[in-house]
Amino acid sequence: MGRVDGKVALITGAAQGLGLADAKVLAREGAKVVMTDIQDAAGEAAAAAIREAGGTASYAHQDVSSEASWQDMVRSIRDEHGRLDVLVNNAGFVQIGDPEQCTLESFQRHNRIMNEGVFLGCKYALPLMSESGGGSIINMSSTASHLGYPIFMAYSAAKGAVRSMSKAVAIHCQMNGYRIRVNSLHPGAIDTPMIDQTTSELGIENKEDLSPVVGLGAPEDVANVVLFLASDESRFVNGTEIIIDNALSIQ
Ligand SMILES: NC(=O)c1ccc[n+]([C@@H]2O[C@H](COP(=O)([O-])OP(=O)(O)OC[C@H]3O[C@@H](n4cnc5c(N)ncnc54)[C@H](O)[C@@H]3O)[C@@H](O)[C@H]2O)c1
Repeated sequence: MGRVDGKVALITGAAQGLGLADAKVLAREGAKVVMTDIQDAAGEAAAAAIREAGGTASYAHQDVSSEASWQDMVRSIRDEHGRLDVLVNNAGFVQIGDPEQCTLESFQRHNRIMNEGVFLGCKYALPLMSESGGGSIINMSSTASHLGYPIFMAYSAAKGAVRSMSKAVAIHCQMNGYRIRVNSLHPGAIDTPMIDQTTSELGIENKEDLSPVVGLGAPEDVANVVLFLASDESRFVNGTEIIIDNALSIQ
């Protein structure tokens, strides 16, 4: 028996990095994984690799900032699976920009993809999840939500919104008897393509230098927490935030 046997899980931004690690771990533990992203070739290949390894996975194009794409995605999951048990609102991106350098366009793009994207995911998942008897929504925030990184100002603002939105949605679900739990995750620096990109944009030669005190986490360090939150083991964990940074933010 897998820890999430038979659950239908939608993971956004799953073509690489943390979303891909989540997909692999949830599929290994018995979930039917629906992976979405805007990088279609990488997403298709990732889903095929999971199927070859014996898992159940499919891939679909989805830009999380598009309301129509959320409506289509939830409709297609309803048609194909008849239920939705887990939503991992993972898709994201980051651009360097302090409060003086950051353009309005960059600020709005962070907001569209991470703040509005998570809002739309929650909004459109709730009806199908509640009809399914409940579920778990896992929203990817960051330590940036608590700490506020000046060179990632727009990113910090969007991740802060994800943190507070998650709590509002959790309470809404409880007040309405939906049996849907909503939690946010707050990783520190985790070794993914996002870190490679950031390191090169900052002109840092060695990516380990981004986190010299506690080192970089591995994508599986986050995926294992996603697995716990997706499973019924976490049935009393709701409306909370889990920091995954090896104690960096309290030093
Ligand atoms: N890696 C870290 O150190 C770290 C730390 C804290 C939080 N996070 C968060 O975790 C999540 C995953 O990060 P990652 O490190 O795997 O990044 P990544 O860049 O490696 O992967 C992000 C994925 O999201 C996809 N994506 C971007 N815009 C999209 C859109 N509009 N619609 C759909 N998909 C889109 C990308 O194509 C990519 O496949 C992000 O929300 C990120 O902010 C990452």
